[in-house]
Amino acid sequence: MWENLGRPARVLLLGGTSEIGLAIVAALRAPASTRVVLAGRDEARLNAAGKELPFDTTAVGFDALALDLHKEFVDEIFAEGPVDLVIAATGILTPQDQVDADPQLAAAMIETNFTSHVTTLLQVTARMRAQGHGTIVVLSSIAAIRPRKANYVYGSAKAGLDAFARGLTDALAGTGIRVLLVRPGFVIGRMTSGMESAPMSSTPEQVGQAVARALNGRATELWVPRPLAVLATAIRLMPRPLWRATRR
Ligand SMILES: NC(=O)c1ccc[n+]([C@@H]2O[C@H](COP(=O)([O-])OP(=O)(O)OC[C@H]3O[C@@H](n4cnc5c(N)ncnc54)[C@H](OP(=O)(O)O)[C@@H]3O)[C@@H](O)[C@H]2O)c1
Repeated sequence: MWENLGRPARVLLLGGTSEIGLAIVAALRAPASTRVVLAGRDEARLNAAGKELPFDTTAVGFDALALDLHKEFVDEIFAEGPVDLVIAATGILTPQDQVDADPQLAAAMIETNFTSHVTTLLQVTARMRAQGHGTIVVLSSIAAIRPRKANYVYGSAKAGLDAFARGLTDALAGTGIRVLLVRPGFVIGRMTSGMESAPMSSTPEQVGQAVARALNGRATELWVPRPLAVLATAIRLMPRPLWRATRR
């Protein structure tokens, strides 16, 4: 996807300090001249992350909760030149007991994990349509497949994001714009620190490598690891009383 551009490629990482997002960027088989825009809330951490990447990086301010600013934010990034790859990695995992105690935390999690991706990616799509090409990576989750009592607000936001990404994929068919919908399982890292690991867990680096490989092909959906697709089918088919009785 990096050939024949005739200029340095440009990548936008929404959630510029995301462990998974940065691992994807690090694993890209892109030329060293590639320009990477790291978008997030903490400039110092964005700059530190940029220094670890083998590309030309820039940090820009981005708040997922500032929904009314997203159109302008995206327009400003595209005004500086074409964007070839957008990775939507923004997300938070607020524990269910905290959400139960404060519904505003639920609203913030839904806005961060779902609504902000809709407001940013609709505008990204409009700009990619105008430039005639582009690829969008969306980070869904196994949690999107069936709500679990242990984190059903997170799961419902991911289910919304997953449905949005599938609809977007279909809406963009034949336009030259591609969506890659990624569904990792449990990823060992900052977001899940202190949590008990789940079956078929992976590391951010493994997710990064899998996404980079998939970007060189034509897939529109990717499970990480791949056998998670089988587990997801079993989860979908499990009778509800059994599902309800699971501890996790
Ligand atoms: N870790 C897992 O087990 C797992 C599994 C499946 C899917 N996913 C999904 O993969 C994506 C990346 O996760 P990760 O493991 O890389 O987590 P992470 O390292 O915690 O990254 C999350 C990113 O979201 C950013 N963010 C959160 N709220 C924001 C806001 N209001 N405005 C701007 N940025 C904000 C964080 O910025 P700050 O550094 O400023 O907080 C960080 O860059 C998420 O969508 C997550 O739901 C994760």
